[in-house]
Amino acid sequence: MPRGPLTGRLRVPGDKSISHRSIMFGALAVGETRVTGLLEGEDVMATAEAMRKMGAQIEKIGGEWRIHGVGVGGLLQPESPLEMGNSGTSTRLLMGLIAGHDITATFTGDASLSKRPMGRVIEPLSQMGASFEASEGGTLPLTMRGASPGVPITYRLPVASAQVKSAVLLAGLNTAGITTVIEPVPTRDHSERMLRGFGAELEVEEVDGERIIRIYGEADLSPQQVEVPGDPSSAAFFIVAALITEGSDLMVENVGLNPTRAGLIGVLRDMGGSIEELDRREIGGEPVADLRVRYSKLTGIDVDPAVAPSMIDEFPVLFVAASQASGTTTTSGLDELRVKESDRLSAMATALALAGARVEEHEDGLTIYGSGGEPLAGTGDQPIATHLDHRIAMSMAVAGLAARDGVEIDDTSPIATSFPNFMALLDEAAA
Ligand code: S3P
Repeated sequence: MPRGPLTGRLRVPGDKSISHRSIMFGALAVGETRVTGLLEGEDVMATAEAMRKMGAQIEKIGGEWRIHGVGVGGLLQPESPLEMGNSGTSTRLLMGLIAGHDITATFTGDASLSKRPMGRVIEPLSQMGASFEASEGGTLPLTMRGASPGVPITYRLPVASAQVKSAVLLAGLNTAGITTVIEPVPTRDHSERMLRGFGAELEVEEVDGERIIRIYGEADLSPQQVEVPGDPSSAAFFIVAALITEGSDLMVENVGLNPTRAGLIGVLRDMGGSIEELDRREIGGEPVADLRVRYSKLTGIDVDPAVAPSMIDEFPVLFVAASQASGTTTTSGLDELRVKESDRLSAMATALALAGARVEEHEDGLTIYGSGGEPLAGTGDQPIATHLDHRIAMSMAVAGLAARDGVEIDDTSPIATSFPNFMALLDEAAA
């Protein structure tokens, strides 16, 4: 495990959410979409493979991905199951796309994905006319048949989920009439921004703090040149690593700072973290900056549950930061963490306790009693169980920087789903 302060400059790979969408929307546009900065992780490659099976041509030429789409309504019947690996985003968004086409598809996934709830998308997509045969509990493997013509609906999201929102909007793309999603709590808005960029007619209205999103069906998408900004969820591991490692002064370049994604930065600043935004600019319709992060003495806080959707994937690494702060950090309203790639509340409570931190697990959050900067003991010879969850593996690798005897992880292979060069970058920055 590497040690020492994190210094120099680094760039994390492209945003995972934007990468998935650039392939899906490119595959639905007529003509050639070109994408630079695409995340070449396993999850995004699963999306690409599925779109190929449904007729799109997708290839990499030099540093650029080129996608020849089939047009909205033009997806072909896949001849074999769509293998989704570990990727919930691929699965739920593609279920939406297929719901608006008259085709049948079977979805399979790994042991982690096969436990995750799909009922949340099956419900609205059934209202739109699609039919489903899922495994017990509404899980994968499942087979669905899309409906064309489908029925436009107005759907109020019962959970704060960008994947559910996007699934309904994507089903609405090929459905005559207006499909409406009401979002009581804002979630990441990449689908809305990018669908507009690809030429779909989409309106967003704010009424009493709720977002009402309308998409006009039977859309034509036109091909785009997409530049994918760096993934704030991947940058998060380096931000926390630099904050908790004495002597660090690290520049993380090209980080996407869409307000629906940037919650962690505000929380870490509230804890006393020194994170400076330099050269704020726009890339691919998204705000981006270079972040200078310096070692800081952190103080525990009560994290407002209202920020949860804007940092939903960053809680595991926030818990690591909290374990090094002075004082107590409390979190709540995090029920969604239990249905991610693993049950992240339970996985992180167990992992941090094993590494020597003081943690209490509650139904909807963790309370962490920080060490005040004292190193954790480390895991000894009992490795952390990562439960096929990339973010548990990377968070605990960061915790390893603050552990006397280091942290051992049972399986680092899930890291390749979202951040294939994570270990190499960490070795380099902490050398
Ligand atoms: C994502 C939405 C979030 C997030 C996931 C990516 C997306 O999931 O956790 O990593 O790209 O739309 P939920 O919609 O389940 O919150």
